[in-house]
Amino acid sequence: MSNKLSRRGAAVEPFIVMDVMAAAAAKEAAGDTVIHLEIGQPSTPAPKGALEAARRALDTDRIGYVAALGLPTLRSRIARHYQEHYGVDVPAERVIVTTGSSSGFPLTFLACFDAGDRVALAAPGYPAYRNILAALNLEAVDLPTSAEDNYQPTVATLEKAGKIDGLILASPSNPTGTMVNRAELQAVVDWCDRKGVRLVSDEIYHGIVYEGRPASAVEMSKTAVVVNSFSKYFSMTGWRVGWLVVPPELVRPIERLAQSFFISVPTLSQHVALAAFECRDELDGHVVRYRANRDLLLAGLPAAGFDRLTPAHGAFYIYADVAHLTNDSRDFCSCMLREAGVATTPGVDFDRARGSGTLRFSFAGSTADMEEAVRRLKAWKRT
Ligand SMILES: Cc1ncc(COP(=O)(O)O)c(C=O)c1O
Repeated sequence: MSNKLSRRGAAVEPFIVMDVMAAAAAKEAAGDTVIHLEIGQPSTPAPKGALEAARRALDTDRIGYVAALGLPTLRSRIARHYQEHYGVDVPAERVIVTTGSSSGFPLTFLACFDAGDRVALAAPGYPAYRNILAALNLEAVDLPTSAEDNYQPTVATLEKAGKIDGLILASPSNPTGTMVNRAELQAVVDWCDRKGVRLVSDEIYHGIVYEGRPASAVEMSKTAVVVNSFSKYFSMTGWRVGWLVVPPELVRPIERLAQSFFISVPTLSQHVALAAFECRDELDGHVVRYRANRDLLLAGLPAAGFDRLTPAHGAFYIYADVAHLTNDSRDFCSCMLREAGVATTPGVDFDRARGSGTLRFSFAGSTADMEEAVRRLKAWKRT
C-alpha cells in the first residue's frame, strides 16, 4: 500500500517562472547567451554598508537564536522607517521580523483565518498567494482585474466577490507594476472595516516607484496587516528577511506560531537588514536605473510588436497583452527564449484563467541588457 499524499499539497501549483529559469540555464549551459527578463529580483547584491555589517557581525556576534519576533534594534528601526517615510507612529511592538515576506503570509493567514475561509485577491497577481492559501485549506477568490481598473481591486469588484474574510492587495503590484492611489486605498480600507474583512497589504515594492508615492495601509487602518521585505528595494533577496506590521491583538498569536515554525529569523541577516537602512544613496541609485530600464523598454518594445503594455508606475515589471500574437503564452515564451534568447514569464503564472494572452517583462537587470533585449526582440518580431 502506498503512503498517503495530502490533497492540499497536491493543490499547490508550480511557479512557472522557475521552469523558465531552468530552461534559460540549460540554454546558457549549451553555450548560448540569454537576456534575463524573467527574474523578479535585483541583479545587485546587498548594499556595501550592509555587507560590512555582515562581516563585523561574523567577527563579534555568536549568531545564535534570537527572539521569535526579531532583534529589538531591527524592530525599532523598522518602526522609525514608518515615521520617516509615511509620517506615522508605529510602536516597535507591532513590528514582526520574518524570513522574507514569504513567511509573513502563512503566519498572517494562520493567525487571521480558519480553514475554509475565503480570501480575495487580484488576478493577475503574485502566484504564491494562492498557493499558500491552498496549502492552508483557504479558498482563494479571484478578483478579475483589467487595464480599466488599473489591475487593482476596487470597491465595485469587491462588492461582487460574495462573502469574503480577507483581501490581499499588492501595490505596486507584481506582475503589473500598477498602484492604488491614496483615495482608492482609503475606500478599500473603509469597505474592509465595514464588512469585517481583514486587509493584508503587500507593500514589498514600496521604494521602487516612478509615479506618485504609495500610501501604506498602516496610515489609515487599525486592523490591516502590512507585509514588507528587504528583498526588493533593499536588494537583499537571498538574505531572506522581511517584516510585518500587525494590529496589537495579532502580535502574540503570530509570535506563538513563529516560535514553533521557525524559532527565529536568520540572525546574520537581521544585522545586515539593520545596516541596509543607512544605505539609501546606493539603493536609490538602483531605482534610477530601474526607471531608465522601464523607459527604455516602454519606448523600444512597441517596435518589436509589443505595443499593449502596462505603464509600470512601480516595481520592476511590465505586463504585456500579447493576445494578438498568441493564445498560448507558455509556448510563446518558450519560442522567444529558444529563438531570440530572451527569457520572460508567461502570464499563466499570474492569471490561470486569462494569462494565456499575456506575459511579464522584468526590468530589474542592467540597462545594457534591456538594450540588447529590445534589439533581439525587434529582430525576432512576430506579427
Ligand atoms: C508581490 C510579492 N510579494 C512577496 C514576494 C516574496 O518575496 P520575499 O519572500 O523575498 O520577501 C514577492 C517576490 O517576488 C513578490 O513579488
